[in-house]
Amino acid sequence: MTAPLGGQVAVVTGGGSGIGRAVVERFVADGASVVLADVTEAAAEVAAQIDPTGRTVVFQRTDVSRAEQVTEAFAVAMTRFGRCDIAVNNAGIVAGGEMHEDGADEALERLWQVCVAGVWYGCRSALAVMRPQKRGVILNTASTAALWPTPGFPAYGMAKAAVVHLTRSLAIGYGRDGIRANAVLPGPTRTGIFPDDIAGDDSLDQHYGSRMSLGRMIDPAETAAAFAYLASDSARSVTGTVLQVDGGYRPIYT
Ligand SMILES: NC(=O)c1ccc[n+]([C@@H]2O[C@H](COP(=O)([O-])OP(=O)(O)OC[C@H]3O[C@@H](n4cnc5c(N)ncnc54)[C@H](O)[C@@H]3O)[C@@H](O)[C@H]2O)c1
Repeated sequence: MTAPLGGQVAVVTGGGSGIGRAVVERFVADGASVVLADVTEAAAEVAAQIDPTGRTVVFQRTDVSRAEQVTEAFAVAMTRFGRCDIAVNNAGIVAGGEMHEDGADEALERLWQVCVAGVWYGCRSALAVMRPQKRGVILNTASTAALWPTPGFPAYGMAKAAVVHLTRSLAIGYGRDGIRANAVLPGPTRTGIFPDDIAGDDSLDQHYGSRMSLGRMIDPAETAAAFAYLASDSARSVTGTVLQVDGGYRPIYT
């Protein structure tokens, strides 16, 4: 059987942990080569774990809030692998605080730089490579918070809603260049985005599971399966969509 992503090349931001790491693992299993772009040096170790030979996974230290570093990650895809077919703009942080609270502006600034500008730079760098080749897939990680406000996280939800809007704009703007753009909206997923002291805790499942039809949090590999589908030729007519991978999550407002 042909590998679904055989011979393709992807850049995955935030590939050092959680959903991004699972996407790298899945893409490699599906036959792709990957530039794992992440701000933390520890992600180099993750790349080496996924591919000890270094032939299919290359780590590139990248702060997505810095345009030139994002452009460089795509340049690495071209120099190492000669092409770039898939861009996964996934790196993200979470920052909370209601609008009236101290630090709300600082949280917005950080979120905007990483979750919005970072995705923007990734999309722009991807387009520079994909438009001339007349093909490509852009996948942006948003969140169910783009659809339903999470109490205490207004800036995060606003940033993720911006990602959805940008993704749809790209689908309209570049479909005739052979470029598809889709957003994945994870619900509560067990990753490093949760603070260490509660990350492995059952209370997470209790809190979020009670708000999810499936009654449990999501494993990053399950989210990665959605990315793999959207990246593949099976989704060749799918663009401008938002795919929720949320176990039926609906917040409860009290
Ligand atoms: N886990 C969830 O419940 C959940 C829900 C909805 C959306 N998301 C989104 O999924 C994406 C992945 O998050 P995750 O849950 O896997 O978290 P995670 O913390 O496990 O992984 C995020 C990765 O992004 C990297 N990163 C952070 N800032 C960066 C920067 N400036 N430049 C480059 N890399 C950077 C981190 O080093 C880390 O490797 C994020 O966009 C997040 O907002 C997560």
